[in-house]
Amino acid sequence: MDRRHLLQLAASTAGTLWLPRSAWSQVRFTDDPFGLGVASGAPTHDTVLLWTRLAPAAMVDSGGKPVTVQWQLADDVNFRQGVRSGQTTAVAELGYSVHVEVPALAPDRWYHYRFMAGDAVSAVGRTRTFPLPSAPAQRLRLAYASCQRWEDGYFSAWRHMQVEHLDVVLFLGDYLYEYPGTGSKVRVPPGGWVLTLDDYRARYALYKSDAGLQAMHAACPWLLAWDDHEVENDYAGLQAGSSGLDAVTFARRRAAAYQAYYENMPLPLSALTRALQGLGEGAEMRLYGQLSFGRLAQLYLLDGRQYKDPQVCTKGGKQGGGTLDPTRCAAWNDPARSFLGMAQERWLAQSLAGAAQRQTTWNVLGQSTLLGTRNFGTAQAPRLWNDGWDGYGAARQRLVQALQQPGVANPVVLGGDVHENWVGHVKADYARADSANVGVEFCGTSITSHAGKGDTAAVLAQNPHFVFADSAHRGYGVVEFTPTQLTTTLRGLTDVTQADSGIQTLARFTVLPGRPVLEQG
Ligand SMILES: [Fe+2]
Repeated sequence: MDRRHLLQLAASTAGTLWLPRSAWSQVRFTDDPFGLGVASGAPTHDTVLLWTRLAPAAMVDSGGKPVTVQWQLADDVNFRQGVRSGQTTAVAELGYSVHVEVPALAPDRWYHYRFMAGDAVSAVGRTRTFPLPSAPAQRLRLAYASCQRWEDGYFSAWRHMQVEHLDVVLFLGDYLYEYPGTGSKVRVPPGGWVLTLDDYRARYALYKSDAGLQAMHAACPWLLAWDDHEVENDYAGLQAGSSGLDAVTFARRRAAAYQAYYENMPLPLSALTRALQGLGEGAEMRLYGQLSFGRLAQLYLLDGRQYKDPQVCTKGGKQGGGTLDPTRCAAWNDPARSFLGMAQERWLAQSLAGAAQRQTTWNVLGQSTLLGTRNFGTAQAPRLWNDGWDGYGAARQRLVQALQQPGVANPVVLGGDVHENWVGHVKADYARADSANVGVEFCGTSITSHAGKGDTAAVLAQNPHFVFADSAHRGYGVVEFTPTQLTTTLRGLTDVTQADSGIQTLARFTVLPGRPVLEQG
């Protein structure tokens, strides 16, 4: 199908428009069509985005025909006080995904929603609008999480997260992994390498069959930043990662992965629009953006993969253990190279300056990986990880400078990717321990993905801008923002290989506005 047609279809199926009745017929479902659950995302003060995707197992006899899906939004869980309803069309060309944007809602309110198709009714989801950007909001509770490799364990973290009373989940990348399932002691995903649109759709369907993940998607809206494994390990821009595919083949694979990501995530149509309007395989999927939670917090979601310059000196994760020696690799600090891409860098600097004018209390960056430098070697023989910010020293310095613009209050950087908890201070100059604290950083462990076997305590001692590190636990972090304090609680599973694993608090940190110093306890 050509991309213009796909975009027209996507536009016609988003929201309340639908295809003429003659274009669809009643489908006989071969299984529960809502077996992949429901989700919401992209919240603003007056809009929510509702998502579902009809399960492939239910569509066996559909013959590829469009399916009409009804939706309802209500004040109450029993749907007696309806707020809005409508119908839309799920089409095979978009993986039978449903994306409904509901505008003109009241600010700072919780709602319930559900979908119907034929005789089937979905689970009920909860979602919320954010406070008006000018409102003095009193509390925001969010969880940050990342990296859920199916074969490494059970998604117990999502089950535990349901009692955290969250306003929003910030998922920071590696929603799925593209590997063939081999050698797992826990569970094995069916199929081989994930390469085609059908492969990615099937892998999402597998992950989304998990009851805990479904329940957490249904519990509150999610905000999204992706990393590499939604496409391929260690890819950068249009350069393939560890599989070594040629550029044309990789571009096609990336386009398929991006489309599948849209189909399976609570994303607005605007995310897909640029991808389909652009020049085919190299087209952009616009994910980065910002949103306000009143004047309490400004959230910036960054894309650290799509516009990234290639890794240098050693190819990320593949040769040389993915680390570089900065004393022998000038390119690691080349100002011409960018982690976010120059356009996104400019957008972020301007957006931060705008937040300064609005006097936002907390400025929160949600991005895919660890920001602070981690020297795995010694002072005399440093080793840096070249796929993370450490492989892009000058670009990191520009980011830190953007955070130091006048009036940008209380930067908080959240990340994932490293499968370990790292908590530290964002430094004006990471090379000087006595340089100013610019903000704080919480980089999360994984939902399941295994940690490396390095000596975490030794690396922590070598890099004193970090105050805490833990590689032993999978889980998530919860950040509560108020006008007078930030509190972050790190939650760790007892055993990720057990479906009924318990969870415990690993550590708790507080930060006061105007004082970028982490206090533990
Ligand atoms: Fe990961």
